[in-house]
Amino acid sequence: MNTPTNFAHWTLQRDVDGTAWAILDRQNASTNVLTAEVMAELATLLDECDRQVPKALIFKSGKAAGFIAGADIEELARLDSGAAAHALIKRGWDLYNRLAAVSYPTLALIRGHCLGGGTELALACCYRIAVDEPPTKIALPEVMLGIVPGWGGMLRLPQKVGAAAALDLILTGKSIDARRAQKMGLVDACVPPRVMDNAARMLVNSGQPPRALSFFQRLLNGPLKGIVAAQARKQVTRRARPEHYPAPYAILDMWANYGGNALAVPTEKPTSLDALIASPTTKNLLRVFFLQERLKGFGKEVQQFSPRHVHVVGAGVMGGDIAAWCALSGLTVTLQDQNVERIAPAIARAALLFEKKLRDKTAAHFALDRLIADPHGDGVRQADVIIEAIVENLEAKKKLFADIERRAKPEALLASNTSSLRLADIACALQQPGRLAGIHFFNPVAQMPLVEVVASDATSSLTAQQATAFVRQIDKLPLPVKDAPGFLVNAVLAPYLNEAMRCVDEGIAPEIIDAAALAFGMPMGPIELADTVGLDIALAVGRQLVAADMQPKRLGELVAAGHLGKKSGQGFYVWVAGKAQKTSAGIIPSGLMQRLLKPLLAATAERVAAGVVKDADLADAGVIFGTGFAPYTGGPMNYRAQHPNQE
Ligand code: NAI
Repeated sequence: MNTPTNFAHWTLQRDVDGTAWAILDRQNASTNVLTAEVMAELATLLDECDRQVPKALIFKSGKAAGFIAGADIEELARLDSGAAAHALIKRGWDLYNRLAAVSYPTLALIRGHCLGGGTELALACCYRIAVDEPPTKIALPEVMLGIVPGWGGMLRLPQKVGAAAALDLILTGKSIDARRAQKMGLVDACVPPRVMDNAARMLVNSGQPPRALSFFQRLLNGPLKGIVAAQARKQVTRRARPEHYPAPYAILDMWANYGGNALAVPTEKPTSLDALIASPTTKNLLRVFFLQERLKGFGKEVQQFSPRHVHVVGAGVMGGDIAAWCALSGLTVTLQDQNVERIAPAIARAALLFEKKLRDKTAAHFALDRLIADPHGDGVRQADVIIEAIVENLEAKKKLFADIERRAKPEALLASNTSSLRLADIACALQQPGRLAGIHFFNPVAQMPLVEVVASDATSSLTAQQATAFVRQIDKLPLPVKDAPGFLVNAVLAPYLNEAMRCVDEGIAPEIIDAAALAFGMPMGPIELADTVGLDIALAVGRQLVAADMQPKRLGELVAAGHLGKKSGQGFYVWVAGKAQKTSAGIIPSGLMQRLLKPLLAATAERVAAGVVKDADLADAGVIFGTGFAPYTGGPMNYRAQHPNQE
């Protein structure tokens, strides 16, 4: 091996046979991000390869954390004009075109995350190898930030995997693992870590022609583009409106009409880079990205807290799914309920979750082995974290915690999943009330990213910090909240659902109300949501959080008649095979959505003013990740500030 050429972030290393390695290990940073400096150095590295042409060049990461996490989002967030956006896109577009045109063979060895500009770099190489281990994920997630993969992704991905599969990835931003990437042709090989360097060396020097599309796929990516674009457009229209989410429409136009070159779209078009960068959606989605990063940053203050064993009491809707999620996250879990019969359905649900999420029979089997039915609660003695998710009854919870405290390890973290009781009232039952935190998950646990971490006045700061760290450990987003009725998310959601149900009382069809919310960009209409949550729960929460004279009438009648929504087969809608049976919606009265939003916006502002969350940004993060509140708005507080006349 020859002496390597060291740059600040890259190293160019040459083997004796002439194969060179471009190793990215960004200085003073935990992840490889393509900052302006990293890109400028890559250009210098290519100059160096022009001076002394290697036999082949292999890109790999010098970090354990992953390959390349994409462009520098902070730099994107600072873009303040169309011209600045053009300059940033041109930098990567030109550089990757240069890489794609070099005279020697190139290969990207992808291990760990490979996102956005990282994927585009890999696509500009002749070959790609993905390392077959769970952290390897490949994606072009730009659309989620309201931007486009402008460094060649829209040009090259369709050439590798075909137009339809490429558009599916680019328009959804979803990630794929190493095996899937190989199956669809995004990478040439998928190999275990121990052979990766050799595999890369052999493939890049093999002389093997790079993968080519079939004749038919070439037609779909060429003269028949229009057909694929029309099909994709239909799907995009179903998911997002152009006025809320312009980026997917821009991607389709750039691919179908400009060869995937974002720079070629005329400035005045609504699909141009200039229009995208000027759109409030892009700013708001970048804001949501940073809010998410802020939540991810919580829980880092505690050292020496790495729970291995979680004990969950209550194997119902929530406890069962919390236990499954913890086992999926690699923890040993004991699951307690009154008898084995009550635990069995939770284990069966967990098995389905493991199969779906792990897509590997052995891994699913191991996860199931980690989830142990424990009808007598023996796990309490060994557990590092104990989560209570039994019925919502104060006396039952107090009794349970008094017993748990006697048997648990003194350093074990105690947590309740209560959604409506005061944490301080439950903590009264403990000798050391400071040990109890709220860890409030949302339903369905596997799908909802947010978990509220509740601290009462009695909760010690160490307990609160440990609870937050635990939530991060299981890869959820922790939101610290105070012990106030409904915490943040339910307190905001309840008045909104309530107002929607009052609209039904006034004779507006549920379909129309739901259509108004969907048109605004909510993931589900409020009436369908109430039916899904369960009308008994909606009634109980509404009674706690909404004034008595504002209670909806029909809701009470439905619950009295035993119509509890999705779970009973009838609520505001009739439910068949898990689907609400809706008639066509009709015309949405003007001002309906503003009416529905008003109590939600007011409740959010009230909670911020009352200090339930630390600041308005955290309220926005909580409501977006806890309810799915239309992300393009940047959250209710941001929306309120941008639309001051709506209240
Ligand atoms: P559930 O009724 O589905 O399950 C409760 C389970 O606890 C039952 O299986 C019951 O047998 C068991 N249980 C009752 N007393 C017990 C005891 N002393 N020891 C062991 N097991 C016992 O209830 P769900 O919906 O799962 O709610 C549980 C908790 O989670 C409640 O505090 C609720 O407020 C909270 N929560 C519920 C949400 C939901 O959407 N259902 C969302 C977030 C929190």
